[in-house]
Order: sequence, then C-alpha cells, then structure tokens
Amino acid sequence: MTATTTTSTTPIDLTDTAAPGVATGPNGYRQPDAAPQPDRARLDDFLARFAADQAAGMHLSTVVLGEQLGLWRALADGGAQTGVELAARTGYEPRLVLEWLRAQAVSGYCEHDEDTDRFRLTPEQRACLAEEGGPSFAAGGLTTVSAVHRRVEDVADAFRRRKAVPWEAHDPGLFSGVARAFRPAFETHLTSSWIPALTGIDERLRAGGRVADVACGFGTSSILLARAYPASTVAAFDQHALSIEAARRAAAEAGVADRVTFEVRDAAELPDAGYDLVCVLNALHEMGDPVGVCRRVRENLTEGGRLLLVEPVAGDRLADGHTPVGRSFLAASTMICLPSALSQGGDRHLGAQAPDADFAEVTRAAGFSSCRRVVETPLHRVLEVAP
Ligand SMILES: C[S@@+](CC[C@H](N)C(=O)[O-])C[C@H]1O[C@@H](n2cnc3c(N)ncnc32)[C@H](O)[C@@H]1O
Repeated sequence: MTATTTTSTTPIDLTDTAAPGVATGPNGYRQPDAAPQPDRARLDDFLARFAADQAAGMHLSTVVLGEQLGLWRALADGGAQTGVELAARTGYEPRLVLEWLRAQAVSGYCEHDEDTDRFRLTPEQRACLAEEGGPSFAAGGLTTVSAVHRRVEDVADAFRRRKAVPWEAHDPGLFSGVARAFRPAFETHLTSSWIPALTGIDERLRAGGRVADVACGFGTSSILLARAYPASTVAAFDQHALSIEAARRAAAEAGVADRVTFEVRDAAELPDAGYDLVCVLNALHEMGDPVGVCRRVRENLTEGGRLLLVEPVAGDRLADGHTPVGRSFLAASTMICLPSALSQGGDRHLGAQAPDADFAEVTRAAGFSSCRRVVETPLHRVLEVAP
C-alpha cells in the first residue's frame, strides 16, 4: 500500500551539479534547481486519492470473482448468511468464502451484522451486483477491466513500436463484458427514447423498414430492434467473427432469427441496400476510417433515412471528464479504442471522448448535412445524423 507520509534517512546531495541548473544526488537523483516542492496537505490529499483508486482496483478482482463463481447470486438468494452458510450453499472452500465476504463488507458491497456474523445484500447492492437482466445490473461489465489488465504489455508495445492492438486481440472477457455493460442502457433507452428522438424513424420502422446495425458486437441492440419493430428487418454486421457467432446464438434464443441477420463484415463495406436507419453504437470512435464508414452509410440511406450514432457521453472540454464515467472512458480509450482504431490504419482516430464537434466534422466530410445531440443519458450521448 502507499504510505501517506515519507521519510528519508539520506539527505539528497545538491552540491554535485552535473549540468547548469541541475543537481545530482545519491543514485543519480537529478533535481532541477527550481523544482517546486510538494505542498504537504495537497500531497496527502493526492496520496489518499491514489490509495482509494488502488483499493478499488484490488477490490474489483474480488467482484469479478464473485460474478464468476455465482457468489453474488447465492448471497442474494440465501438472505443473511454466515461464511459457513454461504460456503455450504455454494460448495466452495469455507475459509475463502469468509474472506471474500469480509472483503465485500469493508468495501460497502454487502452489510455485516457484528452480533450474528452474518452478511447480506441491501436491495440496492442486490440490484447492482446480483440481478442480471435488471436495469441497474452493473457487475457484468467488470470483466472489461480485468481483460484490459491482461493486455497491458500489448498496449505498451503499441506505444513503443506503433504496433496497434486490434479489437480481436483482446481477452474474450472484453467482448462479453462490453455486451453486458451496455445491455441495461440499451434495454432502457434504445427503442423507448433514442429512436423516437430521431425525426420520423420510429413511425417508419413500425410500418416496416430496413435497419443496419453496424459494428453490432454481441447483437444486443440488433435483437432489441427486431423485437420492438416486428414489421422491420435488421441487417447486423461486425468485423469480429466471435462476436457475430455470439449474436447469432442470442438471436435464436430470443426467437427473432427470422428478422435479423448477422454477417462478419467491415463497416466500410456495408452492402448496397436502402436503409431507413443505420445504427453505429459505441463504435465509430474506434474505427480507423470513420469518414469512409459514414460516407458508405450516407450512400445507403433512403430518402429521409437517418444515421444514429451512440457514443460514450462526453463534454466539449477535457475538464468535463473529471467524473467516474469520464475517467473510465478515457482509460478505456487509451487501452482499447485508440489501439484498435490505429490497427485499422486511416488518419482520423477519434477516441472514446471526442467532442460532438468532431463527430459533426467527420459526418460533414462524409456528405451529411447535420449532426446534433438529441438525447443524453448517464453513459451515452445520442447523435442524430441527417443527409
Ligand atoms: C465497443 S464494441 C460495441 C459493440 C456494440 N455496438 C455495443 O454497443 O455493444 C465495438 C465493436 O466495433 C467493432 N468494430 C470496430 N471496428 C470495426 C469495423 N471497422 N468494422 C466493423 N466492426 C468494427 C468491434 O469488432 C466491436 O464489436
């Protein structure tokens, strides 16, 4: 752990000057003459913040573990339980189960009763950690975090040798984690507010139209569209074969395989067809040639058709990103989105926090006449792009 105070028994020798304005101390320590010294209170504040992030990072591994082992579900189902009781319910090693519960309690991820030594989830913790499919379920997306940790070396190589990291080179926990992370937002907003915010599109799709879902990932959005608009057809594409296989399975399970097709295909090669709506959700910012992709979309829209861009929420200034969501997306952009965009070549790489003005510029260059933000939710901004 990081200490919040530091002590040094060896004073730094500032007399051994190696270059004008630079002092060299023991072990080659170099310090410019005028280097400002840390302010004690601000240093302590920053170290406290760092310690909180470090604790969160370490704790997340236990949350993912709980997901993987079904411990959250078992804790939710069994009500208040001791470690021994949860171990009996799950069949896991009792001492490890107890330590896991204790780790959750000190992080505020479950409640602990000192008198009975029982642990339980509040309704809020349960909604967030144990209720997959619910609107507040958040734990499923955490495998994205463990997945990027497994590729730190590859991303370091992208920095050192410009060897970019394509989407498909990531750990599979990223692909399923992204699908699980965005599912609650799609289920809550996609067909109830995002599409109705686009001029005339909801009516067209109700009557029977044609939709393309470009870079569809695991197909969550494609399936929701097919369900909400049974008179319409959905053609979904992604460059990633493993995601397309998962999407096909999900569509068959959802009983909509007759209205939605999935194909492994690059976004720049959208097949010729007249689409009333083309969706590009959480994806344009990680493509190598966003202008080329938008141009292809523009060529394939029917009269009055629309491009729907859903992008991670962001403001116009970097300072707007001083939020948990901004921090997560900019870190993901560094580790996932930009290395993926760079792997596709091209010369315009947006990243996950590009301001709306950048999307307006890209879509204008592709021949669209307007790009405007029509909805904002805690995770997303919705841009309506019109020919
Ligand atoms: C962050 S995921 C989003 C997936 C899905 N739209 C969602 O919101 O859950 C980005 C997806 O874009 C896909 N992708 C990236 N570049 C692509 C390209 N040039 N053509 C097709 N798909 C692409 C990736 O394979 C990945 O499935």
